[in-house]
Amino acid sequence: MALTTSDPGIAARRQRACQTLMRQAHAILDKEGSTPSALHALKIKLAALAARAELFPTRDFPLPLHQGRLHSLLVEPDDGLALHLLIGMPGKMSNPHAHSIWCVNASVHGSERHVMWRRTDDGSVPGHATIKPVGEVLMERGHGYAMADHDIHSQQVVGDEPSVILALYGHAFERFPSVIWFNQEFSTVRKLTSRRGQAAA
Ligand SMILES: [Fe+2]
Repeated sequence: MALTTSDPGIAARRQRACQTLMRQAHAILDKEGSTPSALHALKIKLAALAARAELFPTRDFPLPLHQGRLHSLLVEPDDGLALHLLIGMPGKMSNPHAHSIWCVNASVHGSERHVMWRRTDDGSVPGHATIKPVGEVLMERGHGYAMADHDIHSQQVVGDEPSVILALYGHAFERFPSVIWFNQEFSTVRKLTSRRGQAAA
């Protein structure tokens, strides 16, 4: 990876930049809520931060031992916003899933393909779901995209370098309402129990 150096001032500059992003995010969300246009505006802000790759050197964010690793940059208490740095190793992939909370992503380094899906059944049969792909984004440095609360996506790291992504979520991972996983091949759906009950009050 290209991001191999750091200096004592980088952490402080990164902290300020993340705090600025959070202030901007709150200004947008307070005015509009998490509307499509608000999420689009957040994506542009996050992509600008991700483009400052010098703020996110590998030295400060160790690689995963296996497939992926999450580093928390700024997590607000309770149901506040959460800004994470996600690292995926080459070949890492996830099946289609919905977070049940909005999210914006932007790439710092590497390349990651995200496919968006749409559910096509009416949800009337427990455990059954059909989905179809409706779009695709290749995430590379400075690129990003937004997902609404119930959007479905899958992802795969492409190329032979780790993927580094910034992700701003409506809540921290442990306070997600639930994560819903889809299996296209078998037309099944599984809702994971929320970890909110295990989170600190
Ligand atoms: Fe996801």
